[in-house]
Amino acid sequence: MSDRGRVAILISGRGSNMQSLVRAMRDGTIAADPVLVLSNKPRAEGLAWAEAEGIPTAVVDHRHAASREAHDAAVVDRLREVRPDLICLAGYMRLLSPAFVQAYPMRILNIHPSLLPSFPGLHAPRQAIEYGARVSGCTVHFVDEQCDHGPIVLQESVPLRDGDEEEALAARILQREHHAYPEAVRAFFAGELEIEGRRVVRTVPSAPTPGECA
Ligand code: GRF
Repeated sequence: MSDRGRVAILISGRGSNMQSLVRAMRDGTIAADPVLVLSNKPRAEGLAWAEAEGIPTAVVDHRHAASREAHDAAVVDRLREVRPDLICLAGYMRLLSPAFVQAYPMRILNIHPSLLPSFPGLHAPRQAIEYGARVSGCTVHFVDEQCDHGPIVLQESVPLRDGDEEEALAARILQREHHAYPEAVRAFFAGELEIEGRRVVRTVPSAPTPGECA
């Protein structure tokens, strides 16, 4: 029996974070395998990539459900079939209902394109520009019952430039996302994360990021 972890990835669109996670699983950086890519949108671009990679895919179309709870119950039913150790939200543009979160306590990760708690919700890079922030970035966090709120696993910063456009900033943040998300998932499966309240303690010190004092 394999002792590798089992990861389900939820997407709604392009799926570039999904790709970065799958690549890190395939090259052995993450001690886990992708067991399902599930989308709430039948035409999500990332589905075709996952299928070409031989990963099982599923669509649970939210438009066919009577309520958020009913949709999430259908998603959880599908997830149970693949027995995931971890669920990674990767551009999954749905708020999770409490029952979904409670089905997988501290077993759901999300990536958000800002340094939380700044700029939760939609259009985070645009929010950072409009606010006049000098630094933004990305956050990988466990999912709790509030939007973009759970315990933070790691963050990477991205400086804003004068005259930054939303698209350019989002692209620079996305580069950091593709580094941060695989590292967070690697640490999860390496058993390096302990959760104390809303703090995630790394049991193995992470390498300093550029600009960090020793
Ligand atoms: C990323 O910026 C992620 O942080 C946000 O949605 C975007 C998804 O991009 N939640 P992709 O689908 O992973 O390319």
